Amino acid sequence: MTDLVVRRLLVDMEQPIARHWCAGDAFRTALFNALSMSFPVGEQFFIDSVRNGLAALPSEQQAQFRPEVQGFVGQEATHRRLHSLYNAHLEKLGLVNAWETRARKRLQQMEGLHARHWLGITAANEHFTAILADFMLNNPDLLGDQDPRLATLWLWHSAEESEHKSTAFDLYQALGGSHEWRVKWMRRVTVFFLYDTLLQTVNNLHRDGTLWSWSTWKSGWSYLFGRRGLVTLTYRPWRAYLRSDFHPGQQDATASRRWLAEHADQFVPVGG
Ligand SMILES: [Fe+2]
Ligand SMILES: [Fe+2]
Repeated sequence: MTDLVVRRLLVDMEQPIARHWCAGDAFRTALFNALSMSFPVGEQFFIDSVRNGLAALPSEQQAQFRPEVQGFVGQEATHRRLHSLYNAHLEKLGLVNAWETRARKRLQQMEGLHARHWLGITAANEHFTAILADFMLNNPDLLGDQDPRLATLWLWHSAEESEHKSTAFDLYQALGGSHEWRVKWMRRVTVFFLYDTLLQTVNNLHRDGTLWSWSTWKSGWSYLFGRRGLVTLTYRPWRAYLRSDFHPGQQDATASRRWLAEHADQFVPVGG
């Protein structure tokens, strides 16, 4: 079991967010803003999934998982709260969160499905966030230095995603989830995740008035497919999930541990 600490981040989310807070780069700002828009609804679903998954276990196994589930819920609830404040600023900038509306409709179809399926979806999403997190922690300079508060927010969130990456997966296995369904959910989640990310990023750029700028496309190409590109570097770890002997614990967590050790002055632990 993983010991998960809940941390209160010492950042001021009352201050407004600049239009191109990420290194003055329209594309990267739009992409990160899109991801932030998905978190309040997504992370609530992850919380519900692990809670329902825990409740579906036999009581002796519940005791074993309970502390980790409490830590997971505490971490995700804190992420939700800060990203909701973040998203309120985006709304003031004229951006519209269409991702959340779509996701809510889709989640209605999950009602009545066994907790194992909710966890299959959550585990796939958590793998996505964990590999994205590792990418961000290993390339912190790409967040720029124009808003150290937001850079800290993203890196703290990343470090905790890496920490709790096994929780939903282990619950899925404990409930007898099959490899076949795990891979099936990963393929579906991948299609939806890429589709939603693309659509919301384009939506943000359109409202920002930078969708058709040459610099936006140039930056997008290099951020995604360049030598240090997001897709270039995360494709292999994404594929690893499809292996039958995969476990999230096999993914390196050094960058997360290092960030938390080096930035202990940026947060206050509030329990575990
Ligand atoms: Fe999170
Ligand atoms: Fe998470």
